[in-house]
Amino acid sequence: MINDPGVLVRHEVNSPAGAEALEHYAQAVARMKKREADDPTSWAYQAAIHGTYTEPFLDLWNQCEHQSWYFLPWHRMYVYYFEQIVRAAVVELGGPEDWTLPYWDYGLDGADAALPRPFLQPADENQNPLFVRERNRYYNEGGRLPEQLASPAKALARPFYIGTAELGGGSGPAREPRFWGQSGELERTPHNAVHSQIGGWMGDPETAAQDPIFWLHHCNIDRVWAIWNERNHGKDPGEGDWLEHSFEFFDAEGRKVSKACGEVRETIPQLNYTYEPSPAASTVGEEESMPAPPPPPADAPRPAQPKFVGASGEKVPLTGESVEVPVEIDRRGREEVFEAAAPEGANRLYLNIEDIEGDENPSTVYGVYLNLPPDPAPEDYGRHYVGNLSFFGIERAGAPIGDKPPHGMRASFEVGPLVDSLRREGAWDENNLRVRFAPILPEAVEGVEAAPPGAGDHDPVEIGRVSLSIDS
Ligand code: C2O
Repeated sequence: MINDPGVLVRHEVNSPAGAEALEHYAQAVARMKKREADDPTSWAYQAAIHGTYTEPFLDLWNQCEHQSWYFLPWHRMYVYYFEQIVRAAVVELGGPEDWTLPYWDYGLDGADAALPRPFLQPADENQNPLFVRERNRYYNEGGRLPEQLASPAKALARPFYIGTAELGGGSGPAREPRFWGQSGELERTPHNAVHSQIGGWMGDPETAAQDPIFWLHHCNIDRVWAIWNERNHGKDPGEGDWLEHSFEFFDAEGRKVSKACGEVRETIPQLNYTYEPSPAASTVGEEESMPAPPPPPADAPRPAQPKFVGASGEKVPLTGESVEVPVEIDRRGREEVFEAAAPEGANRLYLNIEDIEGDENPSTVYGVYLNLPPDPAPEDYGRHYVGNLSFFGIERAGAPIGDKPPHGMRASFEVGPLVDSLRREGAWDENNLRVRFAPILPEAVEGVEAAPPGAGDHDPVEIGRVSLSIDS
């Protein structure tokens, strides 16, 4: 496929082809920034389609889909039309007609986990259209994203697109209200975690797309979805509510266009682009993949209401320290917890972090761990690891647009396999379930002086409840 000259290929930003694409991108960004704010092909307008605090809102502003099964297709379309707008500017400036947006693969180790050089140097907005002073200084100086936040392996290991803690998010109506539904694993990590860590405009959905790195980040998320799709029969999701739901954008001529999710499930042939290396050849996270189950039938019954079998007592503020929360499992629920955790069981066990509230995304991302020993050795963190908790969207959840009521955010993680393995190691005590939240710290990098996000205190983010539930 990749040899088909008609198919456009997106390259990794640090490859020679990607670096060249980035040079054209920088010039096109500068040109788009000069356009009038009410021109749909301007930089400001394109960013406002994702989110903005600037009122009055113009046509198609504040459309981003988050915490929903529409997260991946909405952002795929958004990047696709944005790429057409940038390409037209690249061509106007004398660049290639087959220009494509490069992707930032921070999941590669080492220097690739740092913002690509041209986003940092020169560190002057007037000279460098890719530089944004508002980012966390650690990253603007060349700091590196920790692997735990940058790796898509956990997302790629999910067997389904739809469902609690599956790849693409929980089903439900679009945008009602935003930041309220169930995020998919890919939305959570690396997506939300990278937004939070880079910080500044990137840390808040209403400003994020103003940072030129946003688009390379989303290009990478899109690529991970394409890899997952290659490995998972390409026909999931198959639900009509998802396939037929459509969204509107503007094309390079500023005309309104629309696409349905079912028209963007596969980049080839539907959208005529792919990635280099090709998604089919990627081996990222393959060791961790669960065996691919058969696709769910198109009209599979929705899971019944989750059954709650345990909960924490009080609200817990997170302020930058590592915190442990006891969760009491109901006496009568204990057998069910074991059954749901057993690999042959038909039910699934989830850990839920509910009613998360705060005024501002602190940039800190927390690792969540079950029953970590008192003085954990580095390998204990891996053995007790549940997932990452970050707070992208918390500002808007607390102050929704229009007359929607403020609400907390939530996150659910599947913990059956972890509980089962802890149990077999004798590291599980149902009388004493403890959930630890520990800030994830990027490593020190030579030449970077700023402290990394996560290293200090932050304004409190409050967790309303930590609970354990079973879906049948
Ligand atoms: Cu709609 Cu990365 O955000």
